[in-house]
Amino acid sequence: DDAAIAMKVEADHPGATIDRNIFGQFAEHLGHGIYGGVWVGKDSPIPNVRGIRTDVVSALKAIHVPNVRWPGGCFADEYHWRDGIGPQSGRVETTNTNWGGAPEPNSFGTDEYMDFIHQIGADAYVSLNVGSGTVKEAADWLAYMTAPATTTAGKERAANGHPQPYTVKYVGLGNESWSCGGAMTATYYTDRMKRFARFVNNYNPAQAPDGKNAMQRIAVGPGGPETADYTDQVMKSWSKHDWAWSIEGLSLHSYTTGGWPPSYASTGFDQNAYARLVKETLGMDKLISDNSAVMDKYDPKKQVPLVVDEWGVWLAPTPGTNPGFLIQQNSMRDAIIAALNINIFARHADRVRMTNIAQMVNVLQSMILTDGPKMVLTPTYYIFKMYVPFQDATFVPVQFDAGSYRQGDIDLPRVDGIAARDKAGHLWLAVTNVDPNRTASIAATIEGASARSVKGQVLTAPNVNSVNSFDAPNTVVPRAITGKVDGSRVTLDLPAKSVAVVRLD
Ligand code: AHR
Repeated sequence: DDAAIAMKVEADHPGATIDRNIFGQFAEHLGHGIYGGVWVGKDSPIPNVRGIRTDVVSALKAIHVPNVRWPGGCFADEYHWRDGIGPQSGRVETTNTNWGGAPEPNSFGTDEYMDFIHQIGADAYVSLNVGSGTVKEAADWLAYMTAPATTTAGKERAANGHPQPYTVKYVGLGNESWSCGGAMTATYYTDRMKRFARFVNNYNPAQAPDGKNAMQRIAVGPGGPETADYTDQVMKSWSKHDWAWSIEGLSLHSYTTGGWPPSYASTGFDQNAYARLVKETLGMDKLISDNSAVMDKYDPKKQVPLVVDEWGVWLAPTPGTNPGFLIQQNSMRDAIIAALNINIFARHADRVRMTNIAQMVNVLQSMILTDGPKMVLTPTYYIFKMYVPFQDATFVPVQFDAGSYRQGDIDLPRVDGIAARDKAGHLWLAVTNVDPNRTASIAATIEGASARSVKGQVLTAPNVNSVNSFDAPNTVVPRAITGKVDGSRVTLDLPAKSVAVVRLD
């Protein structure tokens, strides 16, 4: 039936702050994620600032990236930071054993990463090597990054061009330690993790005036039900922590894959494949609820954030590309999946205070694709752009009966939506029409507020499998949308397969 879908926007019941870090990015040394995608080197004909692509920087600035997790991923547990500092001529070339056996020139190292995040205005989220490195190596890395220029570590950094200590707000204590990060049991990991949490210090006087740790240390958590014991072990140990150590975050990784190994095509797929992956994506809600429930047992005040620092669609590699480079196209489907995930994170904003989509450029569900000097913005990029007003806004609950969209034996909610009030007091509504075939008419009542205009942007496309290519970069781009408003009643017509973000003024 095509009756309007009623929504109640409970503006009089504000919830938690939607931390802007929910819109974080992940950039690993993997395929062309860094090399070619971010770093082209100073002598490249591709326009760059100190080796970092100008086009990519300006696109990322426009989506207000809050933080970038680096250098991995699996790569992080084999990364030795000393290989990537000092004059370029002295950088150590290694092999990227995790990702296609590619040469790793280490020309993008700590100082280049810091330059890059500074250029885009993001905070540092550095993953430490807990798998194959030592506590001392990690502690020395933090000293290199954060110690005053009067110290030996700080002098070395100054000699490499940066006398001022860097700000490091977030450190990851390993990555997927149950698998590529060292195949550790949860108890073994927890013991090891505590030593990193204890001895890896942030020495930046501006961050830690009293010499105490001022970073958020994020421990490895689960990757799904099979590794749920990580949640239990890490949180149990946290509940007994003392002055000597602590953690300030628990990681969770969950991809939409359609089964392992990923075999769903990123282009030319049908509506069955669409529905199947949307359905799987919605499982993120239960995964977060289940893990939050375990965390609540040890941390009822929700002091430790759940950090979903790897998420996104992981599809079959683009035919003809190195399968170890995880290159895939990005479609209208993926944009809808991004919006649905962000809505889930926002509903859990009291516990989920940071997430990182995998990955920022040229890898998995990326914001940007590059090919030599060419660059194209993906449908997922535009979701991140449209959702910028939700960064640090106050969550506003939306009640609705979603109706249903059926594809074969898969039953899905027809629509989804969240709302929020930004710092300037504006009310925003984000609604997704999951159904690829039917428009959806939304009839929203705003409780405790009224509006005179409803304006914003909508992202839709000819098909769920529509993509932006280098030759046709504007197939999936946002356009203006307006709704009708009568006091506290708003109507908005959503095209089939679309995401709209509107401001109620
Ligand atoms: O994002 C690709 C890989 O997925 C990461 O390196 C790893 O942490 C995860 O398994």
